[in-house]
Amino acid sequence: MKVDFDILSDKKRFQDLCEELNRQHTGPDYEILWNKKIDFPAYDLASDVYFEYGDKPNDYPGDETSSFFLGDRDKPKNAVLDRYILKEGDPIKARFEQELGLKASRMMMNVQKQGTYIPPHSDRGKSFLLECRDKGLTDDLEWLQIKRYIYFLQDRQVGQFFQVGDSQLDCKAGDLCQFPMFKVHTTANAGPQVRHVLAITGV
Ligand SMILES: [Fe+2]
Repeated sequence: MKVDFDILSDKKRFQDLCEELNRQHTGPDYEILWNKKIDFPAYDLASDVYFEYGDKPNDYPGDETSSFFLGDRDKPKNAVLDRYILKEGDPIKARFEQELGLKASRMMMNVQKQGTYIPPHSDRGKSFLLECRDKGLTDDLEWLQIKRYIYFLQDRQVGQFFQVGDSQLDCKAGDLCQFPMFKVHTTANAGPQVRHVLAITGV
């Protein structure tokens, strides 16, 4: 099934699509592709980052979670991450693109402080895919060719929680986790240590 930008523009239709793709899926919720320790620079984090492409305010990354499973209620105040969007030319971004064979990507350092969480959701990556469309990368793109990865910078610490589909992840520092783009995922940090991951979307 090809990427459809009408569906991408409608959170409800996108959620229905994800549920359908999930029903058809027979593989695992996620896979650990490899483990490599990679040194990251100290990125300049902020809680209010936005993507500089596409139509705001849909491009605030945290917005994806607010409506999917919470009905019309307001987004809880602790449903936040500190983030940094890696820029073109960033050596870490270039390295992951090369290793994963990606023509284009969005990479975010997501830092989950103590006492914060992200409700269950599937990410649309709308502005990223609009950007890909303008680069001619989506003409024959299938939904399942949108790749999702999470790179874990630390071992899982006490109180930290990361779920993809029905599976709880117990990750080690350096693990690269891949999961299908339609998979619902959710995280929380009830422990005393801050958690760092690199979230990757690519085609
Ligand atoms: Fe997400």
